[in-house]
Amino acid sequence: MKRLNRKPAKIGIAGLGTVGSSTARILLSKPQNATLTAVSARTKGKDRGFSEEGLVWYDDPIELAKDPDIDIFAELIGGDEGPALESVKIALANGKHVVTANKALLAKHGMALAKLAEENGVALRFEAAIAGGIPIVKALREGLKANTITRVIGILNGTCNYMLTRMGDEGMAFDECLKIAQDLGYAEADPTFDIGGFDTAHKLSLLSSLAFGHETAAESVLVEGIEAITSDDIKTAKNLGYKIKLLGIARQTENGIEQRVHPTLIPENSAIARVDGVLNAVGVEGDAVGSVMLVGPGAGGDATASAVVGDIFDITYGDETPVYGFAQQEMTPYEAAKAVSHEGGFYISISVKDETGVFAAIAQEMAEKNISLKSIMQNKNDNTVVNNDSGLQKIVLITHNCIESTLTEAISNLSKHAFIVGNPQVIRIENLS
Ligand code: HSE
Repeated sequence: MKRLNRKPAKIGIAGLGTVGSSTARILLSKPQNATLTAVSARTKGKDRGFSEEGLVWYDDPIELAKDPDIDIFAELIGGDEGPALESVKIALANGKHVVTANKALLAKHGMALAKLAEENGVALRFEAAIAGGIPIVKALREGLKANTITRVIGILNGTCNYMLTRMGDEGMAFDECLKIAQDLGYAEADPTFDIGGFDTAHKLSLLSSLAFGHETAAESVLVEGIEAITSDDIKTAKNLGYKIKLLGIARQTENGIEQRVHPTLIPENSAIARVDGVLNAVGVEGDAVGSVMLVGPGAGGDATASAVVGDIFDITYGDETPVYGFAQQEMTPYEAAKAVSHEGGFYISISVKDETGVFAAIAQEMAEKNISLKSIMQNKNDNTVVNNDSGLQKIVLITHNCIESTLTEAISNLSKHAFIVGNPQVIRIENLS
């Protein structure tokens, strides 16, 4: 039995920020065969909730990565180049197992690092890099391996989910929500990574590789963030029976893989729509299992450290599963879906001058492009629909499924009308089975 082969391991942690400090605290409190022996950070002697006494201290993570006494190197520095990349490469080349929470690093260098790990016969584990405490990497790499996967859909950024939830529930302003998320330790060092959708894109690109066995192609993800979403959009969507979530979606289509990140309307009674606050969720659709959804905390020190320590313990049990669940030579080149193939409905909110013929003109432009409207609304008495003193009205359309490129043309034609004020807000609706 593997369990009997469990080997004592010595751990070195590079980076003692929120996640690194939580990882140290957990390891020190549960020293079952995995012993924290060395750490590296910029500043020694800070109060991080654990005692540095007895631990070897390194100012330079690269020196820690070379320490012959370390079996497992935990990279919790962050960043896709510099010390994070260098120290991981050195640790792998020196025959050490590596555990990391660094999605940006893997999105950029994951393939090369996985190859290096394979060549050196060591593990590279990254459960903490995707959806914090949710064990989705292990689920895709091992538990769901029997399946041909067709779609992975996730709420992958705790900061954005937290913000969209509070903006919707309390009408709280965007900046105020962001500040709270930062104070709670959810946000990236540069929060534009969160709100701009890039953090979700990094995670999605890794999920796509795990699900479909292709080389990671983060640069091919269509990315739109939540910056343009207002509490008014969230309220209007709610009145129509939808929630707005920042989703990452990877789908196997007939002509390649589709990877996209964008604010999305989903039916409010769907399971994923009920995942609020800092929680993340990942849904996987497979031919044998059907649909599976995992929900849990997607950010925060202890939740993320739970995944880091889980990886460390797995390694001590001798886990030899390939990095992405496929041997490196089995992974295929990334093949992007050809056409703009997103088929689904759209939410379109348009500010218009209150004039005769506006409804007719909008309906006409949509009909010209063969886009069928599910609903069209302008409601003076509904305070979720703009009704101000400027003589402007807000019209909200919901379309049936249509090809995205056709919708874009229709919006462009619509925008030429003099009654349109500003840019229409267009948000995709995702079909959920
Ligand atoms: N900034 C990330 C989030 C942390 O908000 O989800 C976890 O990757």
